[in-house]
Amino acid sequence: MIPAVPIIVTGGAGFIGANFIRHWLAERDGPVINLDKLTYAGNPQNLADLAGSDRYVFVKGDIGDGQLTASLLDRYRPRAIVNFAAESHVDRSITAPDAFIQTNVVGTFSLLQQARHHWEGLNAGERDAFRFLHVSTDEVYGSLGPDDPAFTETTPYAPNSPYSASKAASDHLVRACHHTYGLPTVTTNCSNNYGPYQFPEKLIPLVIHRALNHEPIPIYGDGSNVRDWLFVADHCRAIATVLDQGRPGEVYNIGGDSELTNLELVRMLCAILDELAGREDGRPYADQITFVTDRPGHDQRYAINAAKIKSEIGWTPAETFATGIRHTVQWYLDNPAWVDDVTSGAYQQWIDTNYGER
Ligand code: NAD
Ligand code: TYD
Repeated sequence: MIPAVPIIVTGGAGFIGANFIRHWLAERDGPVINLDKLTYAGNPQNLADLAGSDRYVFVKGDIGDGQLTASLLDRYRPRAIVNFAAESHVDRSITAPDAFIQTNVVGTFSLLQQARHHWEGLNAGERDAFRFLHVSTDEVYGSLGPDDPAFTETTPYAPNSPYSASKAASDHLVRACHHTYGLPTVTTNCSNNYGPYQFPEKLIPLVIHRALNHEPIPIYGDGSNVRDWLFVADHCRAIATVLDQGRPGEVYNIGGDSELTNLELVRMLCAILDELAGREDGRPYADQITFVTDRPGHDQRYAINAAKIKSEIGWTPAETFATGIRHTVQWYLDNPAWVDDVTSGAYQQWIDTNYGER
């Protein structure tokens, strides 16, 4: 039997990466090498049950460490790199942008360099089969007005936050590496994800956590900002499918056709919590909603046109927002130990910095 060829996943201890590794191990052949620096957002507990699996290797390290990534490529000879590793939180990029430039731009550049050197040394068949899949965001396209058409793959880039600017820069480096050197890259730009293992600095797990802890639920500005939500398992399946069928040099937008204002979303979440874990005093969780100072430069609306991935690759989301959000709330209710673990220490410091003085 021909042994299955591994893939390298970067940032696999984070939210989407951990979900992706679980998806890959359940649905596909071959080992996964997970390279993760374990920043505050990386949690080895997300994949703790895989310890001992002969299909899973964890390596603690930085995508910007060229010596390390060169040695991993040399040792494992993967058929693909799936690059999730990033600083990913817009609010943190506003208060401390440096790490975003370092990981998202410089780190991705270093990883591309090593991938290219490795790829150039492969035989012709291996070179054709190799992929560098770069996981990016819809935020690179900037902000939409209420009646603007959704982002397509040809919408001009107009990033507005240090986070989205750093992701845009990395997307351009990926594009250039394909165009100039021929590295078989594919880039995916996805809308807001939600689901199990999301760090509770992001809106949905933050609302669940604060609601259950009798804390104010902070909505920035007037709550009219719109996001297009996608259940994380659908994103992971899209990435795996693009890895198989995506054309080198191409970009694929991924989205859930689920636009909601933040206020609509938070009210829905509160109603589900009322039903599944009602307050002891019988009052609705929506009583805890508090409008707070807006995020500086807050993008008004994101929406993805996913027609290309649907028609070219045949991917469509399996979950509606109504089903996905129920799974998500139930997962957080069923996993209080995970939440307790990640909401100590560095998390508390962040909450004090970001919400303390409002
Ligand atoms: P996350 O913050 O939950 O996880 C990021 C992971 O990357 C963590 O495990 C962290 O330890 C690791 N990491 C950070 N810097 C690193 C470095 N220098 N070297 C190695 N590992 C490093 O992020 P996420 O929400 O899972 O997002 C994953 C990717 O998907 C990101 O590239 C993000 O831009 C993109 N994306 C996210 C969303 C979303 O809604 N969360 C939507 C679209 C695209
Ligand atoms: P977030 O989950 O940070 O994702 P992104 O900024 O990448 O879209 O935020 C989603 C939306 O929720 C965004 O419009 C900002 C808003 N938001 C709040 O209103 N309150 C909060 O406490 C947070 C974290 C976000």
